[in-house]
Amino acid sequence: MSEDSENEEKKAQASSEAESQAQTSNEEKSSTETISISPSAPQPQKPKTTPMIGKPIGTPVTPRPTSTPIVKPAAQTQTPVVGGPASTPVASRPVGTPVVGTPRPSVGTPVGTMGPIVGTVTPRPGIASLAGVSAPGGAPKLPPSKPPESKVEVSRRNFIKGLAIVGGLVAVGSFVPLFPYLEASVGVGTATPDLPVVVNPNVAQNQLVPLKPADVGSLNSIDPNSSYFQYPYIVGNTNANADSFVQCVLIRMPAGFNGEGYSVTDTSTGDQYIAFSRVCVHLWCLWSYNTNDPRGPVGACPCHGSTYVPGSGTYPKTPSFSNQAPGTAVAGPASLQTPPNNMLPIIQLTIVDGSFHATGRVGVVGCGQKC
Ligand code: FES
Repeated sequence: MSEDSENEEKKAQASSEAESQAQTSNEEKSSTETISISPSAPQPQKPKTTPMIGKPIGTPVTPRPTSTPIVKPAAQTQTPVVGGPASTPVASRPVGTPVVGTPRPSVGTPVGTMGPIVGTVTPRPGIASLAGVSAPGGAPKLPPSKPPESKVEVSRRNFIKGLAIVGGLVAVGSFVPLFPYLEASVGVGTATPDLPVVVNPNVAQNQLVPLKPADVGSLNSIDPNSSYFQYPYIVGNTNANADSFVQCVLIRMPAGFNGEGYSVTDTSTGDQYIAFSRVCVHLWCLWSYNTNDPRGPVGACPCHGSTYVPGSGTYPKTPSFSNQAPGTAVAGPASLQTPPNNMLPIIQLTIVDGSFHATGRVGVVGCGQKC
């Protein structure tokens, strides 16, 4: 072998060894290289390593060091790949930087920011204190005008006024002395101090002509032994004198009858007289005295037939009527009522200067004797 051929073999061997070393170095680099990508600066893409296809089995592959963590920050996903237009890094939007572009219309008034008020601020009704306060625009506020009332409101107000007036009248009327009128209607059993006369019913109203015993049974009564009169009698008040509850009857007692203390005797004739309320104690009809009744001298009510006796006496045709107290109901529904509702109220009489005077009442009109 020549010296030249030896040199060529050495060069070939050295070249082969150099290639082998370079290949080995590249393999080690590719296997042990740690991925380290800066999140802030894009890294140029490294050439892909040649896959180890066809590598002879048994060639040791340098494992990745386990201690080296693969740091892959979240920003890496946003890191574009350099090399194309799509890989241009998108600059993150700094906080507080206004968005460039067409701003969205704001909804409502920003908090703390108030734009100018356009127009006139209309104050709410009833807020009169705002009158005179200038609006931001400079225009003075007008005093609030009173809204017009509806018909319903006017009607309600008039109704309330009417109630107030009626209530006031009732309150005032409660203090008006109505006693004389009430007494004229229902009466009380109190003797008047001046011994009012029993007004002669045959004389015109408003003339205090006393009734005398000789006048009993004349003109105004259907019976010759009785006369109607009013007690109490109110001069000039024809309505009160016409009230049923003041209607009375004065009776000349039949011979042999006894008034048991409620009758008055005319000393000039010896006749006895007694007076009753004409209001039936049953249902308040006006009864009348009739000495011509077939049963005897009785007071008869035309409504339901209640019958009263003028005094204690004898009734030959109706013995059950005998010996009953004056004014006792002896027949009809009033006789079925329990005492004192079965007896007529009695008007107490006296004779002064030849004429009758009423001194009081025994019982309550419409109720009964001694009620
Ligand atoms: S009202 Fe007189 S009997 Fe009935």
